[in-house]
Amino acid sequence: MRDITLHINGTDHALQIEDNWTLLYVLREVLNLTGTKYGCGTNDCGACKVLVDGVPKNSCVLLARNLEGADILTIEGVSHDGHLHPVQQAFVDAGAIQCGYCTPGMVMTSLALLANNPDPSEDEILTALEGNLCRCTGYKKIVEAVQLTARRMREDDGAQQG
Ligand code: FES
Ligand code: FES
Repeated sequence: MRDITLHINGTDHALQIEDNWTLLYVLREVLNLTGTKYGCGTNDCGACKVLVDGVPKNSCVLLARNLEGADILTIEGVSHDGHLHPVQQAFVDAGAIQCGYCTPGMVMTSLALLANNPDPSEDEILTALEGNLCRCTGYKKIVEAVQLTARRMREDDGAQQG
């Protein structure tokens, strides 16, 4: 075992981990942050997506021991004070959630996309989400949810400036 501190959702967690533990294992099995899902375990589905320094990464293939000093955001850190983040609310409003297993990963990737591109085209959304697989929705409503978020965020910005 080795001692390590991981910075997750704004909080430092002092942990003892084995060298071969993945970030996904630490999140789910050590910290009980089970919003991040285990799908394939082989870097193919995106269900385990988190943001590492703002970049979407599949946590099933990241070794936790390499992440000291990184800023890690999971789905549990996305909502605030009991309120859904606009991306989460848009997924609900657009009907982009069926079984929900892919949703945390979809939300994390969408967050990163919108942080870099507040007005993505449909093609840009599909490209950003190509590492996130969904077995239920056919993706159309997920794209609509990202577009709805972008529209609402632009309207909010306009209201604040006007
Ligand atoms: S569980 Fe990590 S990519 Fe599928
Ligand atoms: S909603 Fe079921 S896998 Fe996406």
